[in-house]
Amino acid sequence: MGKNGFWRGTNVLITGINGFIGGNLAQGLLGKGANVFGLIRNRKQDTFLYFEDLASKITLIEGDLCDQELLSRIISEEQIHCVFHLAAQVEVGVAAANPRLTFETNVRGTYTLLEAVRRFPLTVKAVVVASSDKAYGSYGRDQMPYKENYPLKPRYPYDTSKACADMIAQAYASEIYKLPIVVTRFCNIYGPGQLNFSAIMPDAITSALGYTQFVPRGDGSQVRDFIYIEDVVGLYLLIGEALAQDPQKISGQVFNAGTNSPISVREVLKLIYSVAGNKKDFAQVSAAMRRRRTTGEIDCQYMDFEKVNKYFGWKPRHGFKDGLKKTLAWFRRYNEHRFKNASR
Ligand SMILES: NC(=O)c1ccc[n+]([C@@H]2O[C@H](COP(=O)([O-])OP(=O)(O)OC[C@H]3O[C@@H](n4cnc5c(N)ncnc54)[C@H](O)[C@@H]3O)[C@@H](O)[C@H]2O)c1
Repeated sequence: MGKNGFWRGTNVLITGINGFIGGNLAQGLLGKGANVFGLIRNRKQDTFLYFEDLASKITLIEGDLCDQELLSRIISEEQIHCVFHLAAQVEVGVAAANPRLTFETNVRGTYTLLEAVRRFPLTVKAVVVASSDKAYGSYGRDQMPYKENYPLKPRYPYDTSKACADMIAQAYASEIYKLPIVVTRFCNIYGPGQLNFSAIMPDAITSALGYTQFVPRGDGSQVRDFIYIEDVVGLYLLIGEALAQDPQKISGQVFNAGTNSPISVREVLKLIYSVAGNKKDFAQVSAAMRRRRTTGEIDCQYMDFEKVNKYFGWKPRHGFKDGLKKTLAWFRRYNEHRFKNASR
């Protein structure tokens, strides 16, 4: 995108705009000249959107994803052309403790939004629904990387909620409704603005920078794939544009994206502490990991980018170390601000 200025003046709705990916995507869309509208549950200020001073450039609408009247009003009144559906209850621990809340937001919220879109088929030209690699559930190491045609077989509440939303989205794209919908299943995303501290990257980075103490949850043997947020935003823009320009071509499709570079959690932690220049604390973390066992987590998951490369010519532009350096730089700035304010 960019060459023909597709996004300039386009009305785009982002659900979950006050979250990590939503805030970064809003920044990317603003940079391309889009008119950005965001559904926001509350005006929580400690977020990428407010920290980067983006909120004032966006039309923010307060409300809940399960409010169909509100969503219908936003879509019709604001003449929304493209929707990125990112809002979700994403915390795995919260999902285990409160599955109902997770199913309400992630499943009911998704069909509520798609029902609102169904009422205005002439207005909305593209809906990109964020599913996740977690929707696949557990497959053997020898079956990695996940392929888009693998059956979804989730086991845990969060994973199940994402798989349900994923399949519901595909049903709305089917020949019955023919809504212009694409589903994305990306691996772990990291970068500036990821402020969910139950996720490994922000948690470990904040500790490696000396602000908190990192408590490992397992022995670090699990294998994951980490993709840098700028690459994800670039891919979302490509998918949204392609879908809006020619819905028939890709509607109903599922797209995985990862870096095809599996890495163990132990190795991730080692690199974080090393790039942060704090090898001393890693020795303690490493010793603590040796005393732990990993339970209740998928052993190994990663993805390639074969299909998105074929359709959109996309490939990740950041290696893990490059993305890590940028992420650390952002967290240095953010933590200075956060902890300065906290000590007042
Ligand atoms: N972060 C990752 O590594 C990753 C990887 C793959 C897929 N995803 C998916 O991408 C999406 C965004 O993830 P994120 O990391 O930005 O999460 P996030 O928690 O940072 O953002 C989610 C946002 O949704 C909002 N929200 C939650 N419930 C709501 C409701 N009922 N009504 C309105 N808003 C509500 C929250 O307030 C939050 O701002 C999610 O769907 C997630 O499953 C994330």
